[in-house]
Amino acid sequence: MPPPVQVIVVGAGNRGENYSDYAKIFPDRMQVVGVADPREFVRKKLQARHKIPDQNTFKDWRCVVEREKFADAVLICTPDRLHKDPAVALAKKGYHILLEKPMAVTEQDCTEIVEAIIQNGVIFAVGHVLRYDPVIHKIKLLIDSGAVGDVIHIQHLEPVGFYHFAHSFVRGNWRNEAESSFALLAKSCHDLDLIHHWAGGRRCIKVSSFGSLSHFTKENKPKEAANRCLDCPVEGDCAYSAKKIYLDRVKKGAVGWPVSVICSNSLPDIESVTEALRTGPYGRCVYDCDNDVCSNQVVNMEFEGGLTAAFTMVAFTKEICNRKTTIYGSKGELTCDGHEITVFDFLSNKTTKHTSDGTVPGNFAKGGHGCADFHLIDSFISAVTNGDPTMIRSGPMETLVSHKLVFQAERARLENRVVFCENPCDGESR
Ligand SMILES: NC(=O)c1ccc[n+]([C@@H]2O[C@H](COP(=O)([O-])OP(=O)(O)OC[C@H]3O[C@@H](n4cnc5c(N)ncnc54)[C@H](O)[C@@H]3O)[C@@H](O)[C@H]2O)c1
Repeated sequence: MPPPVQVIVVGAGNRGENYSDYAKIFPDRMQVVGVADPREFVRKKLQARHKIPDQNTFKDWRCVVEREKFADAVLICTPDRLHKDPAVALAKKGYHILLEKPMAVTEQDCTEIVEAIIQNGVIFAVGHVLRYDPVIHKIKLLIDSGAVGDVIHIQHLEPVGFYHFAHSFVRGNWRNEAESSFALLAKSCHDLDLIHHWAGGRRCIKVSSFGSLSHFTKENKPKEAANRCLDCPVEGDCAYSAKKIYLDRVKKGAVGWPVSVICSNSLPDIESVTEALRTGPYGRCVYDCDNDVCSNQVVNMEFEGGLTAAFTMVAFTKEICNRKTTIYGSKGELTCDGHEITVFDFLSNKTTKHTSDGTVPGNFAKGGHGCADFHLIDSFISAVTNGDPTMIRSGPMETLVSHKLVFQAERARLENRVVFCENPCDGESR
C-alpha cells in the first residue's frame, strides 16, 4: 500500500476546507500536513481538525515557498487574484498542484502557470468540478459512444439562482471585477470548459457575446430603502433581503452555505450572523453595493466543422447552478436537467434515460457540488499516488484552451464584435 499523499492547504476557506475533508475519510490516501492562511480562525480550525504541527502553519503562501519542500502536493484555494503567483512558485518547488478555478485572471497568467507546470513536470488539476460530476461525465460518455451521432449544436444554460447571485456576485467575493474577476470567468469558465469538452476538443473558430449588469444597481434602490437590510423599512418586500437569506436560515438552524461563509472569525449563530449583517459586506442593500459584474450573459460559438454552441448565464432563476443542457446530433437529441439524461434516437423513435450514482462519503454528501468535489480530489490523489496525470480530467493544456475561450468571449462582449480565434494556443483575434 503506497503511503498517503501529504498535502498543504494554501487558503483554508470554504474550498480548502472542503477538499481537506478527504483526509478525514481516507487517512490512508491523503494527509493534511500544512496550512497557510492569514485568517487565524480558519487556519486554527484546519490545524485542529488535521492535527497539523505548529511549525507547518503559516500566515501566507510565501512562507511555504520559503521552506524546504515538506509535502507531495498543495491545494491552492486562495482568492481568484491570488492563484498565479503561488501556483508558479510552488510548481517550481516541485509540488503537485490542485488549483482552484479560474486558473488565473489573465490569459498571460494562465499561460505562465501552464509553462511552470510543464517545465517542472508536476501533476496539475484545476477545480473544474463539473468535469467530475457523474451525470455530466455521463453526457461525454454518451456522446463518445455515438448516442447522438455527430454533435451539431449544443445549448447550455447556467441558472445561477437569485439569492446565490445576490450572495456571491452582488455582496460577496465575486461582485467586483477589479477584486476578483469578470462573471464569465468566475462563474462560467466551468460551462465553456464543458462545451469545449463536449465539442470533442474541437477548435472554436469564432465567438460573440452580449451581457450586462441588470437590476442590482443604484437606480433600482427603492426610495425608502436603508443601506443595510437590518435597518430597512421595506426589507419585507425585498426577495434579496439579507435578513431572509441569512438570518431566517440561521434561526431555523440552517448553518450550511451561504450562512457558513459570512462570519469570517467565528462559527455562525444568531449573534454572529446578526453582527455580520450589521457590519460586514453581506448585510448591505443589494442596490447599494460596489458590484459591477454581469448578471446575464450569452455566448455564441462556432467550432471547427460547423458545430455551434449557445451558452446563457442568468442570475434571476429559482434553480441554483443546476445546469440545463441539450445536445443536438445527427442521430438523436440528448437533454440533461442536471440529474437525469434523456436520449431520443431519431431512427428508432425510442427514448432512453440515464442516471449516475451520485453517492459519495462523509461531508461531501451534503449537497452543493460535494459529489463532484469528492471525485475531483479523489482523482487528483490517485494521479499523484500513481504518478499518472491521465487520471485527471482537468489538466493543464485543455484547461488553458477552455480558459482562453472565456477570455475571447469576454473580449467579444467588451469590444462588441465577433472575435475570430485563429489559433487555440495564441488565442489571436482580428
Ligand atoms: N470549483 C468551484 O466550483 C469553486 C467554487 C467556489 C469557489 N471557487 C474558487 O475557489 C477559490 C477560493 O474560494 P473560497 O470560496 O474558498 O474563498 P474563501 O474566501 O472562503 O477562501 C479563500 C482563503 O484564502 C485565504 N488567503 C488570502 N490570502 C492568502 C495568502 N496570502 N496566503 C494563503 N491564504 C490566503 C483567505 O484568507 C481565505 O481563507 C476562489 O478562487 C474561487 O473562485 C471554486
